[in-house]
Amino acid sequence: MGCCHHYQFAAGHESVFAVDFSSIKYGPGALEELHFDATELGMTRVALFTDSVVKNLELVDSAIQGLRGAGIEYDIYDEVSIEPTDSSFKEATRFAIDGRFDGFISIGGGSVIDTCKAANLYSTYPAEFLDYVNAPVGEGLPVPGQLTPHIACPTTSGTGSECTGIAVFDFLEKRVKTGIASSKLKPTRAVVDPNTTESLPANVVAASGFDVLCHALESYTAKPYTERKRPANGVRPLSQGANPYSDMGCRQALWLTGKYLVRAVEDASDTEARHGMMLAATLAGIAFGNSGVHIPHGMSYSVAGLVKDYCPEGYPSNHPLVPHGISVVVNAPAAFRFTAASCPWRHLEGAKLLSAEVGGATELEAGEALGQHLQTMMEATGIPNGISEVGYDENDIGQLAQGAFMQQRLLSNAPCEVSEEDLENMYTQAFRYW
Ligand SMILES: NC(=O)c1ccc[n+]([C@@H]2O[C@H](COP(=O)([O-])OP(=O)(O)OC[C@H]3O[C@@H](n4cnc5c(N)ncnc54)[C@H](O)[C@@H]3O)[C@@H](O)[C@H]2O)c1
Ligand SMILES: [Fe+2]
Repeated sequence: MGCCHHYQFAAGHESVFAVDFSSIKYGPGALEELHFDATELGMTRVALFTDSVVKNLELVDSAIQGLRGAGIEYDIYDEVSIEPTDSSFKEATRFAIDGRFDGFISIGGGSVIDTCKAANLYSTYPAEFLDYVNAPVGEGLPVPGQLTPHIACPTTSGTGSECTGIAVFDFLEKRVKTGIASSKLKPTRAVVDPNTTESLPANVVAASGFDVLCHALESYTAKPYTERKRPANGVRPLSQGANPYSDMGCRQALWLTGKYLVRAVEDASDTEARHGMMLAATLAGIAFGNSGVHIPHGMSYSVAGLVKDYCPEGYPSNHPLVPHGISVVVNAPAAFRFTAASCPWRHLEGAKLLSAEVGGATELEAGEALGQHLQTMMEATGIPNGISEVGYDENDIGQLAQGAFMQQRLLSNAPCEVSEEDLENMYTQAFRYW
């Protein structure tokens, strides 16, 4: 990454980055205007995706009444699975095909928004399920054209899925998480109302808040776009690496997360902190949707996919699951200690933005300074102390590393080469932190 303060151009390498803007309506009360957005996008018959908890929130109910008042027909699908699977995506698709809708609205966390993206895709361009799924698990075929309009309304301060072209699911047969990635999956509009965060359980704020933190920190430290080969066809990949545009969103999201994450978890009535985390989530979504994440997310896919019997508070108790943000952050201190040598300045800068006291830390100490600060934030918010506390033991390290090594789309966005042995070492470091 060179000195990593500036992007360095090299002959034969990339010198261009692309920005695919998201259309966003953001602020307290934004959901009250949902029917205006639906009308503007020409929706007359809507598939409304939500989950069984979110459906009963007052704010959501009144947004739905607004659609009715505007004469927009809707059918509600509230059977979204939290941490969706290939089979839950397929069920949602059947609903979408049967209903012949001209618009999609998702109101919920990442699980709801991603399910809606998949149902929109497979009902608009029917195909074998694995056709659009990322290689090597699926065929990775391109999405043929524009999807049906989709308005995404997040109710967690986390995934940023409202601004990304990604839909993530658990592939049950292979016990691994994977996804579908295409700029065409990006919702037509995001309607982000931070008032929705006020009913979030503390554990969900913590887990989804660390998802935000890792989106921002991974995008900020990703392989710079200038280290890629220039594409022959003029089309940049969805994950084009760190670039000046994504850096802006990352820096602001890190600063907000450093200021507000612990407060938002500790006190549900701290509106400033809860709303601050929602803004951070959207900004980090814009940033990582443009540059891409890397090792902590790559490692998370097997931590989540191989789950044994972990059932956290604040999440549905009908099946074991490791919430996405937890499955990511348990790897983060080990992963950033590993990547720090490739771009120490950005790791130190990340720690400072997160309000760490780094004093006179040198670039050689960057990984340790950042790792320690992440551990302090994890401990302060009740996050499990490493992968051992979500149910893994030493005998699982090999299988975890094998699963993570399959996530080449993410690993190739890291600022350095990553071997399967490196992944085993990182899982060993991630076993217990304090
Ligand atoms: N598409 C992307 O770009 C992207 C990025 C990161 C993560 N993800 C995926 O998103 C999923 C995780 O989403 P998430 O972290 O937003 O959580 P979630 O959607 O899984 O919801 C977590 C829990 O919070 C509840 N909940 C949601 N909003 C609430 C509210 N306002 N008040 C009270 N309870 C509420 C839900 O009912 C659920 O029990 C994972 O599958 C993950 O892989 C997708
Ligand atoms: Fe994530």
